[in-house]
Amino acid sequence: MEQTEVMKPETLNDLINILHKLFEADEINVEEVQDIMESYESKPEEWMKYAKFDQFRYTRNLVDEGNGKFNLMLLCWGEGHGSSIHDHTDSHCFMKLLQGQLKETLFEWPDHKSHGAMVQKSQRILQENQCAYINDSIGLHRVENVSHTECAVSLHLYSPPFQQCQTFDQRTGHKNTVKMTFWSKFGARTPFEATVSQENN
Ligand code: SIN
Repeated sequence: MEQTEVMKPETLNDLINILHKLFEADEINVEEVQDIMESYESKPEEWMKYAKFDQFRYTRNLVDEGNGKFNLMLLCWGEGHGSSIHDHTDSHCFMKLLQGQLKETLFEWPDHKSHGAMVQKSQRILQENQCAYINDSIGLHRVENVSHTECAVSLHLYSPPFQQCQTFDQRTGHKNTVKMTFWSKFGARTPFEATVSQENN
């Protein structure tokens, strides 16, 4: 699909409106979505109402349901918080840094025959406003806030939306199916829910 015009969202609401338009189509242009998410310059006052932290693990906070085409959510990472190695249930995953830095480690899918440690493909530090992309054909990943002093906030878009994924044990490649839930929805707390955190493995 061709990218016809470059739209720069000035606000988070602008970004959400543009994403609604782009995802009306049957197919999306991954680069276009990535560029647009990257071109939004993070302004904490626009997303603060969704930013809810937990002392022990990262939180998932739903911002927009994208007319059923995508879920847009804010993930809030305290110092040292991280996700398990996981897949993306055949969906697109866009991940934009709104505040701080996050380390993304990419892994190969485990080989069914071998039961050894999973193979690491690459590692990078994502900086504020950068937008990463992954899907299952690229591999699996884990995301971590490795800072001991700074929290981090990221904006994730998953399309189509999904409610469960597979997590993997780095030492053996063994997998578990995990239900993914929200800490809050549209700025209001949804109690008694967990996330795909390292502690679940
Ligand atoms: C991540 O990409 O590490 C976050 C997974 C999630 O959506 O909980």
